Amino acid sequence: MRNICVVGSGHVGLVTGACLAELGNKVICMDDDFRKIEGLKKGIMPFYEPGLEEMVYRNVNNGRLSFTTGIKESVKQAEIVFICVGTPQRQSGEADLASVEAVSQRIAKTMDNSKIIVEKSTVPVKTGSWIKRTIKLNNTHNVDFDVVSNPEFMREGTAIHDFMNPDRIVIGVESERTANIMTELYKPLNAPIIMTNIETAELIKHASNSFLALKISYINAIANICEKVGADVIKVAEGMGFDKRIGREFLNAGVGYGGFCLAKDVSAFIKIAEDVGYDFELLRVVQKINDFQRRQIVKKLREALWNLSGKSIGILGLSFKPNTDDVREAPSIDIIKQLQAEGANIKVYDPRAMNKTKEFLQNVAYCQNPYQVAEGSDALVIITEWDEFKNLDLSKVKQLLRQPVIIDGRNIFHPTEMKALGFTYQGIGR
Ligand code: UDX
Repeated sequence: MRNICVVGSGHVGLVTGACLAELGNKVICMDDDFRKIEGLKKGIMPFYEPGLEEMVYRNVNNGRLSFTTGIKESVKQAEIVFICVGTPQRQSGEADLASVEAVSQRIAKTMDNSKIIVEKSTVPVKTGSWIKRTIKLNNTHNVDFDVVSNPEFMREGTAIHDFMNPDRIVIGVESERTANIMTELYKPLNAPIIMTNIETAELIKHASNSFLALKISYINAIANICEKVGADVIKVAEGMGFDKRIGREFLNAGVGYGGFCLAKDVSAFIKIAEDVGYDFELLRVVQKINDFQRRQIVKKLREALWNLSGKSIGILGLSFKPNTDDVREAPSIDIIKQLQAEGANIKVYDPRAMNKTKEFLQNVAYCQNPYQVAEGSDALVIITEWDEFKNLDLSKVKQLLRQPVIIDGRNIFHPTEMKALGFTYQGIGR
């Protein structure tokens, strides 16, 4: 059992805190956002993540997990401090590390016994050494400390499962003592541990996330060729995926990747490379293909409906992927804005994310269910592959639509079956 403090109770911080408590540690999650912390104390989660609420509840009740806005008390008690604050993207693409620096200063000024400070936020390479420098500079009580890079690979929607069942754990560390403590902390997870220096650990995170984005853009590029030659991208992905060197995962063609991490990490990695004098052209093309996928949806609608001005378009799915209410960098927002720019009227439905889009979208009609979206619409566009959409009563949908047009941005239906049902149907790459 270790005493742990997690600074920053966002997605990564809260899941990390709850899971480390679940593993038997005593964890205090800290955040400056008073409302968030007050909510958490009452059992209200600041975002939706399957299984999180129950896990938080369980560990608060057994006394292993607590919440605070006070950095002093939480850092003082802790042996290990995880930095999980946000690293938003600047205009230039690079990560904004102001919060990481500020938190490092606050930790340094507070700590009065030896600490292990772990960076878990996704940060550019060399951040670890900046944290170290900052802490040294502000180390009021002159205590021993170690900085560790321990990037997190959890995905939203499956974050708890991913934390508890990682493919690997990456630990960038400088001292053997700290390496042993970190190994012991993660021992219950029974996963391979990559023990390395801080810079390598930091780079593993960027290299991995960018590779995932690259895989998605690659299959999307293939999808575009499939459409021209009459091939089926799902079969192509299957055929490629059986090759163990390639693997089937992250080869789902669609409207492109969204979410806070992949887009931000690709931009940041391009900037990191640029700063050290390398033009990461490959990743710039990855971004370009991703933008292209979003525009393709509008093009497909134009092909099916001719002019979009005055047409009513129904959108199913707003979150950047299923099982989350997160709409940051979601393809839906971009696509809806493009359609509105062409004069289309937009109706939307999402099982979880409608509240979160209200600040990004204007003049959109929010519906109670998919059928209300279909009613009187000239076309339906599927942007997120929620299970609810896979089980739609399609004959009812067809009756409700003004024109039986479906653009399936996630390939949840089969073209032949949809045509047999009388739809004008377009998937991606089929
Ligand atoms: C990602 C990384 O997977 C995770 O390791 C890291 O810690 C955070 O960033 P996340 O953003 O939660 O996780 O979601 P992910 O499941 O990776 O999906 C990202 C986007 O790619 C989604 O918009 C998804 O729809 C899209 N995607 C994914 C595809 O378009 N095709 C695929 O085959 C896979």
